[in-house]
Amino acid sequence: MMVIIKSTYIYFGAIAAMSIKNIVLVGLMGSGKTTIGQELLDHTGFTFIDTDRIVEDMAGMRIVDIFEIKGEAVFRKFESEAVKKAIATHNSIISTGGGAFEDEQNRKELLSKGNVFYLKASADCLHERVKNDNSRPLLWGDNPQQILQELIEKREPQYLEAHHTIDVENLTIMEIVDEILQRVL
Ligand code: S3P
Repeated sequence: MMVIIKSTYIYFGAIAAMSIKNIVLVGLMGSGKTTIGQELLDHTGFTFIDTDRIVEDMAGMRIVDIFEIKGEAVFRKFESEAVKKAIATHNSIISTGGGAFEDEQNRKELLSKGNVFYLKASADCLHERVKNDNSRPLLWGDNPQQILQELIEKREPQYLEAHHTIDVENLTIMEIVDEILQRVL
């Protein structure tokens, strides 16, 4: 029998001793996938993988340049390759680009081989977090907050196929990490 004490300190040993699926984080830009993923790393000893970084390595250029020079469709092809590479690893925490889970094949791969968490937040909250960051081409329009709202409406049906949904808006990073770790143990 396993006793779960609500403290992140016990998780490292517990996770190291168990074989669990990769933890996959999905959600919109600004939902905290990278921050939470990196924090999870400290508490699990898993490897952190960011599909956007795999895309940049494969393309040999930054995401913004892929969008500008090659276009979004090419970015999405790289992204699907990155998802395949990421999910083929073991003991990983995988942070996905916000649009990765929209694609049916990506979704199938991630859902069948990973433990998928949707980090849910409102457009107001997401906008507040990303408004000073110019690295997301999809938000370069006149009204990024409205774009985020439209993306929520378009993508949320798919995000809700995740195994778990965590409303991250009013939680601290550590509360989110605790919530995730309790659900995978
Ligand atoms: C995108 C999200 C970005 C990045 C690209 C496209 C999207 O990743 O993959 O700019 O389609 O939502 P983050 O969600 O990590 O910002």
